[in-house]
Order: sequence, then structure tokens, then C-alpha cells
Amino acid sequence: MKKIFLSFAVAIVISSCGNSSSETTSGTGDTKATETKDAAADDLSGNPVYQKGLALVAKSDCLTCHKVDDKLTGPPYREVADKYASLPDTIVAHLAGKIIKGGNGVWGEAFMTPHAAVSQEDAEAMVKYILLLKK
Ligand code: HEC
Repeated sequence: MKKIFLSFAVAIVISSCGNSSSETTSGTGDTKATETKDAAADDLSGNPVYQKGLALVAKSDCLTCHKVDDKLTGPPYREVADKYASLPDTIVAHLAGKIIKGGNGVWGEAFMTPHAAVSQEDAEAMVKYILLLKK
């Protein structure tokens, strides 16, 4: 009796998978998510704003505290992008100023170190790259 119930449950799981159009398990879903992300990255990699900001971020120390998708000392860049995506362009100058001056309190207690050697122009280019990462 238990067995019958079990195979019934399995049948339900299988059929609900079929309905959601992914062929088998969550593994397929993961592959799809990666493919979508890659496609988005491909689109961005031809974007000069993206390229310039990424190069500046890579040259500075940003990546010791920030990753695109994971939290390190600082918030993930994609979350920063999502938080500010719907705000007007003036946010770029504000965030650039924050990078130069450093600070805390928006995302938590951890401090971002000041980057006094970074120009306002370069900091704005970095911010524009970060804001392009929104989901
Ligand atoms: C010592 C670690 C550290 C380094 C290095 C660092 N950050 Fe940060 N960053 C943080 C932390 C911590 C926060 C969250 C600050 C807060 O809560 O106000 C943050 C926040 C930010 C924000 C969001 C600011 C806000 O007010 O929401 C941006 C944009 C940013 N960082 C960009 C950069 C860039 C670009 C660089 C490289 C020039 C950089 N960070 C280097 C730790 C760091």
C-alpha cells in the first residue's frame, strides 16, 4: 500500500515538472538561469559604459569587498543596482561621492574605505557599470 502511494506521489512530481516545461529536475533550471545570465553578460560586454566601469573597478580595490552576486564586506553590486535602478540620474554623482569619501550606514555597520585617489569622473564611470548589473 505504501508503495502504491509512493509511486503515485512520484507520478505527481513528474507530471508537475512536465507542466512547468523544464524537462527534469532543478538541475535543468540552474542551467537555464546560467544561460540567461550569460546571455545578459554577452549583451553588456559590448557596451562601452560597462567595459570602462568594469576596467576601473578591476584596477581599483573594489573587488576585495564587492562581488557582483555575493556579499563580501560590501553589498553585492547587483543588489546595489537593484536598490538604485529606479532613481533619477543624480544618484550617479551621489554614489560616486560616496565611493570617494567612503562611509557606512546604508547597508549596515561595515565601512567602505575612502578612495580619495579616484576622480569624480572615474567614480561615476564605476557607478554606471554597477547600475547596469540590475536584474
Ligand atoms: C573595505 C571594503 C570596501 C572597498 C574596498 C570598497 N567598498 Fe564599496 N562598500 C563597502 C561597504 C561596507 C558598503 C556599504 C556602505 C553603507 O552601508 O553605507 C559599500 C557600498 C558601496 C556602494 C553603495 C553605496 C550606497 O550608499 O548605497 C557602492 C556603489 C560601492 N560600494 C562601490 C564601490 C567601488 C566602485 C569601490 C572601488 C573603488 C568600492 N566600493 C570599494 C565596502 C567596500
